[in-house]
Amino acid sequence: MSKHVLITGGAGFIGSHVVRLFVNKYPGYKIVNLDCLTYAGNLANLEDVAGAPNYFFEKVNILDAVALNEVFIRHGITDVLHLAAESHVDRSIVSPLDFVYTNVIGTVNLLNVAKENWKSDMDAHRFYHISTDEVYGTLGAEGLFTETTPYAPNSPYSASKASSDHFVRAYHERALSFSREIDSPVHK
Ligand SMILES: NC(=O)c1ccc[n+]([C@@H]2O[C@H](COP(=O)([O-])OP(=O)(O)OC[C@H]3O[C@@H](n4cnc5c(N)ncnc54)[C@H](O)[C@@H]3O)[C@@H](O)[C@H]2O)c1
Repeated sequence: MSKHVLITGGAGFIGSHVVRLFVNKYPGYKIVNLDCLTYAGNLANLEDVAGAPNYFFEKVNILDAVALNEVFIRHGITDVLHLAAESHVDRSIVSPLDFVYTNVIGTVNLLNVAKENWKSDMDAHRFYHISTDEVYGTLGAEGLFTETTPYAPNSPYSASKASSDHFVRAYHERALSFSREIDSPVHK
């Protein structure tokens, strides 16, 4: 089956490179860039691929669950790369709630919509959540973080990213048991 990949935050610094890579590397995939174009988003980053037949843009805020669901249905989204975020540490100290809304609630909105649209066959889909090393706090003398490094966020930005990481983990655990419940009458 051809993949229909939703990339959130695709007009941003990193997201625009991811969108360009996917549009050029996977001409058989539909690539949907979803971004509400905050101060950090700029579609000029993507002028070179804007006319590609496999590229689509949706100006949607991830806080709008209804609009997100419409995008999933309209494009038949099969997979998600979630990069949309408030990402500037200094701004998070001035306006922490903006980070809670987009990074935490926006991520949970996206998880809810993905779960609802994919619930008949969770294993056929992938949801990649982009985190940050800042969830681990300050780099120690060893000079690296690993997957077992404890979470220790030091700013509202990293605290909101850490929170979204935990929601993604919880949905992974819950989604798997949810699909087992569907498959197995033992759990009904
Ligand atoms: N830049 C870094 O050094 C770095 C390092 C580690 C992790 N990250 C993570 O990588 C991801 C991308 O980072 P970036 O530097 O490209 O960020 P960025 O700030 O450049 O881009 C974020 C994009 O998300 C969009 N966006 C913001 N709020 C939105 C909302 N509510 N709905 C829809 N779109 C919204 C913006 O318009 C923008 O295009 C983020 O999740 C960030 O936490 C970034």
